[in-house]
Amino acid sequence: MSGDLTISDIHSLSRGEALGILGQIARVEKKTFPGNEAMAFGEELWRKKPNTRVLYATSSTAASAGAPLVAYAVYVRQKGVALLHKVCVVEAYRRQGIGRELIAYIGQRLRKEGCQYIQLWVDQAREPARALYARAGFEEREVVDDYYAPGRTGIKMVLDLDK
Ligand SMILES: CC(C)(COP(=O)(O)OP(=O)(O)OC[C@H]1O[C@@H](n2cnc3c(N)ncnc32)[C@H](O)[C@@H]1OP(=O)(O)O)[C@@H](O)C(=O)NCCC(=O)NCCS
Repeated sequence: MSGDLTISDIHSLSRGEALGILGQIARVEKKTFPGNEAMAFGEELWRKKPNTRVLYATSSTAASAGAPLVAYAVYVRQKGVALLHKVCVVEAYRRQGIGRELIAYIGQRLRKEGCQYIQLWVDQAREPARALYARAGFEEREVVDDYYAPGRTGIKMVLDLDK
């Protein structure tokens, strides 16, 4: 998959194009996350949220026509720290290195912009996501019981971009 992936930012698109991508993201989001964890991917994300970045990845070699959405990510920049709210790879494209490529891209981009850390919370039960973050160099810093809901532990992970 490496090399065939194009990662872009919805904020560099026209309104119409951005709404098309956001619509695709919203469908994947709904399929992937339970209702209470699914983010809303409405027009406001494109319109006026300068600190919030929505990235999406398309693949030129995917079997279907056009360049379909294969992954997306959302982060919010707060001075030297970026909070990574979401990383998702469309199910059919998982285990091909796309998640890693997306995280590497985000890290490079934030480092260039002078950001020092990427921080995130992950559900302890989401093994693939925890493995992906650990592989990308994130370290576990805090464990909070019942973070997401009763019985669902949250783990805070941090990537030091200066390392
Ligand atoms: C987590 C997720 C983004 C991983 O994306 P991906 O493109 O499949 O990940 P990659 O192929 O880049 O894998 C990178 C590393 O992560 C780990 N990993 C990924 N999926 C894994 C799995 N199912 N089981 C164990 N380890 C896994 C591996 O270490 C892997 O490296 P390797 O293939 O060299 O062993 C994807 O599974 C996903 O979208 N899950 C649902 C959404 C989610 O949980 N998002 C995170 C919370 S917002």
